[in-house]
Amino acid sequence: MPERKPIQHQCSFCKRVIEVHDQYDLPIYDPNTRHVFADQLDDMLQKNKPHIIKQYLDEYIINQDHAKKILSVAVYNHYKRMKYGYEHEDGTEIEKSNVIMLGPSGCGKTALLSHLSKLLDIPFAVTDASSLTEAGFVGADVEVAVRNLYYAADKDVEKAEHGIIYLDEFDKIARKSGANNSITADPGHEGVQQALLKMLEGSVVEFTQRGQRKHPEAPTIKVDTKNILFIVGGAFVGIDKIIAKRLQKSSSIGFGAEVQGKDEQPKFDELIHQVRPEDLMEYGIIPEIIGRLPVICTLETLDEDALLRILTEPKNAPVKQYEKLLAMDGVTLDFEEDALRAVAQKAIERKTGARSLKGIIEDVMLDVMYEIPKSDEKRKVIITKECITDGAKPKVEAAS
Ligand SMILES: Nc1ncnc2c1ncn2[C@@H]1O[C@H](COP(=O)(O)OP(=O)(O)OP(=O)(O)O)[C@@H](O)[C@H]1O
Ligand SMILES: [Mg+2]
Repeated sequence: MPERKPIQHQCSFCKRVIEVHDQYDLPIYDPNTRHVFADQLDDMLQKNKPHIIKQYLDEYIINQDHAKKILSVAVYNHYKRMKYGYEHEDGTEIEKSNVIMLGPSGCGKTALLSHLSKLLDIPFAVTDASSLTEAGFVGADVEVAVRNLYYAADKDVEKAEHGIIYLDEFDKIARKSGANNSITADPGHEGVQQALLKMLEGSVVEFTQRGQRKHPEAPTIKVDTKNILFIVGGAFVGIDKIIAKRLQKSSSIGFGAEVQGKDEQPKFDELIHQVRPEDLMEYGIIPEIIGRLPVICTLETLDEDALLRILTEPKNAPVKQYEKLLAMDGVTLDFEEDALRAVAQKAIERKTGARSLKGIIEDVMLDVMYEIPKSDEKRKVIITKECITDGAKPKVEAAS
């Protein structure tokens, strides 16, 4: 077997070249990196103050101010905790504040976290919890979440150990039948939750390299999850009914009160903001996990005005993107206000939040983008309300 050299790596915090992996590409612990990392923390704290993080998120995500604040503070505290951990060895501990996010489909949960991940200096990995299965079942083991983080940290264990893991679609690992149904209920999902719990509790997770099959002699990488911040999110479809039921029970003094409550039908958002740990338990998340997710963050349903702003305001707003594309053909794009409103209304009918906005616009824009390049003339394309509601052709005028 040809001799392989240990792998050297330039530390992203201090730019010093250190030996990080042995000849098998496995990490070597280097105690010096700890101090180097700590030196950089002051700088990172300055750069990641909550209001700065929120400002950045504001450029891409409309509304959801409460969620933005919670996430900004969670990240800032995560940095603080790192600093505290490095500087104080006096036994006091600042506990982790893992976050659970709930909100309707298409309201920006995944989008928020994916933008947040681009901003941060620490490794951040998103893993789809619905793809996880209990060890032994077909699918990905829970360790995959930590492995993704390890790769996001450029295979630097020390960095990975201070990263953030976002588990998306977290509601999909709920026990199908909730707390009431016991023995026969869904052992696979419960197994995933038990495995995740170990991670949330801060155990050392062991996994093999990507593409390497698991077998007893396969070299493994160990990552301590003690300092990893976990954020989980999901739509938790149907949890509003669980909350409503609980509220009704607690408010009903007698039979009459219960009947009255049924008629009122409180709105989804009002209910979801009142979510409590016991509702999540009822939904099918085991209590031990809920105990490890102390910060509950709810997102709001996007109304017509919010959807309208999503079309035009964010840095990556769909309308801005189409304007840029058509400008390259020498064409100005003009979306009439009525047309934008019609797009928003159509999206509301589809009940998938902002998710369907792009598709609705794309339906209209496809023909425009196909036809326009046929000529090099400078023109103006006007999208009217009828283009959205009745499939009318966009107006094309000679550019003034
Ligand atoms: N508040 C928002 N501001 C700007 N864009 C948004 C917002 N909410 C959603 N979007 C857009 O809609 C798309 C779908 O949103 P996202 O994937 O974040 O939904 P989600 O909340 O994760 O839903 P689900 O529970 O179905 O996964 C995103 O690509 C994003 O561009
Ligand atoms: Mg999502």
